[in-house]
Amino acid sequence: MNNVKQKIQEAASHIENMIGFQPQIGLILGSGLGIIADLVEEATVIPYHTIPHFPVSTVEGHAGELVAGKIKGKPVVMMKGRFHLYEGYDANFVTFPVRVLKAIGVNQLIVTNAAGGVNKDFEVGDLMLMSDHINNMGTNPLIGPNDKELGPRFPDMSQPYSKRLIALAHKVANEISFTFREGVYMGNLGPTYETPAEVRMARALGADAVGMSTVPEVIVAKHAGIEVLGISCITNKAAGLIEQALSHNEVMEAAEKVKPKFLKLVLGIIEA
Ligand code: 6GU
Repeated sequence: MNNVKQKIQEAASHIENMIGFQPQIGLILGSGLGIIADLVEEATVIPYHTIPHFPVSTVEGHAGELVAGKIKGKPVVMMKGRFHLYEGYDANFVTFPVRVLKAIGVNQLIVTNAAGGVNKDFEVGDLMLMSDHINNMGTNPLIGPNDKELGPRFPDMSQPYSKRLIALAHKVANEISFTFREGVYMGNLGPTYETPAEVRMARALGADAVGMSTVPEVIVAKHAGIEVLGISCITNKAAGLIEQALSHNEVMEAAEKVKPKFLKLVLGIIEA
C-alpha cells in the first residue's frame, strides 16, 4: 500500500472504530451552515485533530469536527468545517477528507457553501443548486501521480453535479413551496473577495455565484466516483452590485438567517 492510501486507511479505520456503522451520505457544511450537525441523532463527534492525518481548519465560523449518526433514520457523516486553499494548504491536502469519506462508505455527497451572488437576479438569502462550476483556483487537487485505485487519470467532468440529485432537490423544495435558484459556481482562490471588475469577468464567463471552496472537494469526489449535490447560500451580492463593502460578518449573518429553510431542505433531501 502506498503512503497516501495508507493515510486514508488509517484515518478511515479510526473513524470506523468510533462510529460502528457505514454512512452512505456525506455532507460538507460551509460557513455558518454547520447547524445541521445539531440534528444528527445518536451522534458521534470526532474532532479533526484526533483523526490521523486530517487537516485542521483555521477559519472563524468553521468548527473542525466530523459528526456521524442518523438523520431520518439514514446513516450520515458530516464535516462541520472544511479546508480552504487560501489557508495555505495545497489542494491535495484540502481534499484528503473526501478520500476518507469515500473509504468509510460515502457514495453521495452534499456540499454546501456561502457564496456571493454574481447573477443580478439573485437576492441575499437565496439558495442555489450548483448546476456546474468553473475552477478558477489556478490549481487542481489531482495534480501529481495518479493512483488508478482511487480514480482515473483524466476524470470525466461532464456532470459534476448529479442531475438526478438536482431534480430530487427541486422536488423536495416544491413540497414546501420553496424555489431553489440554479446556477454556476466559480471557485476563486481568495482570501480577498473579488473586485468589481473580477465580478464582471465572472459574470461574462458564465458564473452565477462566486466562492472560495467546494471546487477541489467536488473534483476529488468525482474522481472517487461519488455522486454530488452542491448548494450555495447566497450570503451577499458580489462586489459592484451594491455600493457596500463586504465583510465576513455579513456573510455569517446572512447564513444565520437562512438556516431554518436550509435545514428543512437538507433534511428533506437526505430523507428523499
Ligand atoms: Cl462575494 N466572493 C467570494 N469569493 N466568496 C464569497 C463571497 C464573495 N461571499 C461569500 N463568500
